[in-house]
Amino acid sequence: MESKPVINKTSGIEARGLRNRYVGSLSGRDIGEQVRVCGWVARIREHGEHLVFVDVRDYSGIIQVVAHSSVDLKAEYVVKVEGLVSQRPAGTVNSDLATGEIELTDTIISVLSSAEPPPFSIQDRVEVDEATRLKFRYIDLRRDKMQHHLRVRSKINSAIRASMERQGFTEIETPLLWTPTPEGAREFIVPSRLHPGATYVLPQSPQIAKQLLMVAGFDRYYQIARCLRDEDLRADRQFEFTQLDLEASFVTQRDIMDFISDAVISASKAAGTVASGEIAEITWKEAMDRFGSDKPDMRFGNELVDVTAVFSSTAVRALSAPCLKALAVPNPSSLTRSKLDGLVDRAKGLGAKGLLWLRAVAGADGLHFDSPVSKFLTAEESTGLLDVMQISDGDIVLIVGDEWEKACQVLGQIRLDLGRSQADPNELKYVWVVDFPLFEGIDEQGRLISAHHPFTMPNEDDFSKLESDPLSVRSQSYDLVLNGWELGSGSIRIHSGDIQSKVFASLGISEEEARSRFGFLLEAFKYGAPPHGGFAFGIDRLTALLVGEDNIREVIAFPKTQSGADVMTGAPKEIDAKIWDLLGLSVNVPRKDLS
Ligand code: AMO
Repeated sequence: MESKPVINKTSGIEARGLRNRYVGSLSGRDIGEQVRVCGWVARIREHGEHLVFVDVRDYSGIIQVVAHSSVDLKAEYVVKVEGLVSQRPAGTVNSDLATGEIELTDTIISVLSSAEPPPFSIQDRVEVDEATRLKFRYIDLRRDKMQHHLRVRSKINSAIRASMERQGFTEIETPLLWTPTPEGAREFIVPSRLHPGATYVLPQSPQIAKQLLMVAGFDRYYQIARCLRDEDLRADRQFEFTQLDLEASFVTQRDIMDFISDAVISASKAAGTVASGEIAEITWKEAMDRFGSDKPDMRFGNELVDVTAVFSSTAVRALSAPCLKALAVPNPSSLTRSKLDGLVDRAKGLGAKGLLWLRAVAGADGLHFDSPVSKFLTAEESTGLLDVMQISDGDIVLIVGDEWEKACQVLGQIRLDLGRSQADPNELKYVWVVDFPLFEGIDEQGRLISAHHPFTMPNEDDFSKLESDPLSVRSQSYDLVLNGWELGSGSIRIHSGDIQSKVFASLGISEEEARSRFGFLLEAFKYGAPPHGGFAFGIDRLTALLVGEDNIREVIAFPKTQSGADVMTGAPKEIDAKIWDLLGLSVNVPRKDLS
């Protein structure tokens, strides 16, 4: 997606102090005006014997300044320019520049700060490696693209706040020094000086605090909340990130989904993108079946097809699996034999036993398959597959056989690998995924694993199966997905002691363990807990998608590198032994090189 222009860069903002105009606000209408602008020297060009053209940049744009060559200027000097807005001479108008029709003449330039030559050019089109960009982030942030992204992010935050306020939510800050939470991911710990040996943790999310606010009667809470998780970093994950976090009482899943839809659609509009007001909805089961993912990218088709029934009595071993999922690849001119072998390896890398491919070929009697496996198929199997796949001459069918979920996941990933390039980068396809399973599997000790967290309410229609068939129990939880990224998730929470005890029992959490891990929440629930539910979505992820970036680092002012380092400040750093002593702690591991 191409960067979009910052919306209304300076409209309504009064330039004050050392200047009376922002550069980007100047235009032909100002010809004849005497103005004062401030900014950085972007470029200097000699012009004739005594004149230089100096491009001066502030965040809103660039203006050409005509100066005497005796002025001592270099790139990135900070200057104040007083001058006359003048029409550029005929033939020198620059139509690429918003202010290309004008220039400042009769100027007085004052140097406010000199500058060393910058380590890289401020121009967007000059490629710079990321380590250098992050080391000199304050210079990187001067670039148009980064200015645009962070300003759009600010607009997104405002739009979200406005939406929340409009819908009757109250903003409440929850503590950053918290106690361990039950959400599974790793926590950053903060040693206590007053209680040596004891620690706080930084919150992975305000989950429990916001539930307590419901017990406290706040009815509708929200927060633009910083969250911290000590997990491996990826394109869509940082240690520190920001959520729109909300919780509401006496509401249904539908209500929460409506609150959130309003917020993300408002944010999309604020970012200058077009998103339809209606967000589609799909069940988890259907998302897995059709797209092989619980975060389906629905900007393109290429859906998976279940072909288990076609091979129900097959003699081919590779096709004897509990579930067979197939994907048609139309006109796969680029899928050479070696690429197909690569796909087999990819499927194995994703955990499948293999992947079969069959090419449809038109012959005298119509379509038939041609591939290493096709000669082992019966006529009914070939015809059955052709019927369900709806393919034509030259198309390829890929098949993965495994347990249902695995077959869906593996082929779903291959669908993305092959199809994502067809997706329109400017399209925004939000989708709600509902009816997640309550439990996502069983751990090594035979205990069920929560798919969300242990306070997620089971679907009322499935209460009776909690003991008899827990893996088939659906939960009242829902995710919001945008273009194949999980934007957020939420659930209706359990507020009744009975159901909570049953779910704890299914999870193998003893009463004692429950008391020690979440005792204060369970205690609070004894004093009148309203039915409640909530949601949180990642603002870093939303902003990245809305400005067309595929890494959230591009929308965070000071992010960490992939290895978790801050190359600008050098964090994390060793600290003085005296501080460890004060905290009652000692360190006995050698320091790792973080560069
Ligand atoms: P969850 O853990 O799904 O839910 O987080 C919600 C959303 O937060 C964003 N997110 C992240 N963004 C960047 N870096 C990370 N490391 C990171 N981790 C999560 C994602 C994610 O979808 N308390 C529950 C919500 C609730 O039930 O109300 C929660 O935090 O966009």
